[in-house]
Amino acid sequence: MHILTLGAAAGGGFPQWNANNAQCRRARASDPMVPPQTQSSVAISLDGQQWCLFNASPDLRQQINDNPQLHPRADGPLRQSPIRSVVLTNADVDHVAGLLNLRESQPFSLFATARVHTTLRANSIFNVLNPDYVTREQTQLEREFAPLPGLTVTAFAVPGKVALYLEDPAAEGFGTVAEDTVGLEVREAASGRRFYYIPGCARVDDALRARIAGAAVLFFDGTLFTDDEMLAAGEGIKTGTRMGHIAMSGPEGSLAALADVAVERKFYIHINNTNPVLMRDSDARRQVATAGWEVAMDGMEIRL
Ligand code: MLT
Ligand code: MN
Repeated sequence: MHILTLGAAAGGGFPQWNANNAQCRRARASDPMVPPQTQSSVAISLDGQQWCLFNASPDLRQQINDNPQLHPRADGPLRQSPIRSVVLTNADVDHVAGLLNLRESQPFSLFATARVHTTLRANSIFNVLNPDYVTREQTQLEREFAPLPGLTVTAFAVPGKVALYLEDPAAEGFGTVAEDTVGLEVREAASGRRFYYIPGCARVDDALRARIAGAAVLFFDGTLFTDDEMLAAGEGIKTGTRMGHIAMSGPEGSLAALADVAVERKFYIHINNTNPVLMRDSDARRQVATAGWEVAMDGMEIRL
C-alpha cells in the first residue's frame, strides 16, 4: 500500500494567508528548516495506478500538480485521472472545498457519512460534481466499504465537533453528532495490514487506544502543540478543546495518551500554522521525535 501525504497542515495551510507569526514568516522566507505545507489530505493506492483521496483540501489542485502519481497518464485518453474515489472524514472547509476542483465530468466515487452528505447537498455549489459521473456513496459507521479494489475502509466515530460553519451555539456540544467526525481504519485485504487516518480528534479514550493498538501506521490530529497556544500568542480566541482538537502536549495530550499504544509508525498531520513542530529546529519538534512521533510533510510517500 502507498500512502502519499498531499498536505500536512491544518485549515488555512502553512503559512496561512493572514498569519504573521515568526514561523509563518520563516516559511515565507523559504527557510529550509520551516517548509510550507498545504492543507491536510493523503492519497492511498495499492498498485500505484489507482488512487483514493482521504479528504479533498482547498489546495487539491496544487497537490495534484505537485505529485505526478496523480497526473493523467501520458499514454491515456485526453480526459482521465488516476483518482478513483474520495473519502471524507468530516465536512470541514479544509476537507471538502477541494471537491470543487474535481468537477469537469470525471467519474469518481465520493464516500461520506449521511450527515456529511446532507451538508454537501445543502450547499448547491457542490452540484458542480455532475451526478452522471460522481457517485455519492453513504458510509455507515463501523461498516466496511471498498473505495478501491482490494482496499477496505471502516469509518468510526471519534470524539470531535461539527464543522465550524454548522455550529449551533444554543445546542449541547454545538449540535455535534457521532457522524460529524470519523476516523478511518484502512486494511489491505491481501496482507491484512492496518493503518489509521484520524486528522481530527478531541480526546483519546480507551476504545480508541484499543482500536489502534498493533497498527502498522497511524496518522493523527496534530493541530496544536499546546491547547492554548493560539490564545497565548495572541493569534486567536479558541483553545484546541473548543475547536475539537486534542493538543500534543500536556497530561491530556496525545503524546501522553498514545505513549504506550503499540504502533509501528506514528505521524502527526493537520498541523496548525501556530504549532512549533512545523519548525524542524524547535524544542517541540525534538520532543515529539523523542516520543517516537514523526511529523507528516507534503510529498512524503510511505509504503506499507
Ligand atoms: C478545524 O479543523 O477545526 C477546522 O478546519 C477549522 C476551520 O474550519 O477553520
Ligand atoms: Mn481542519
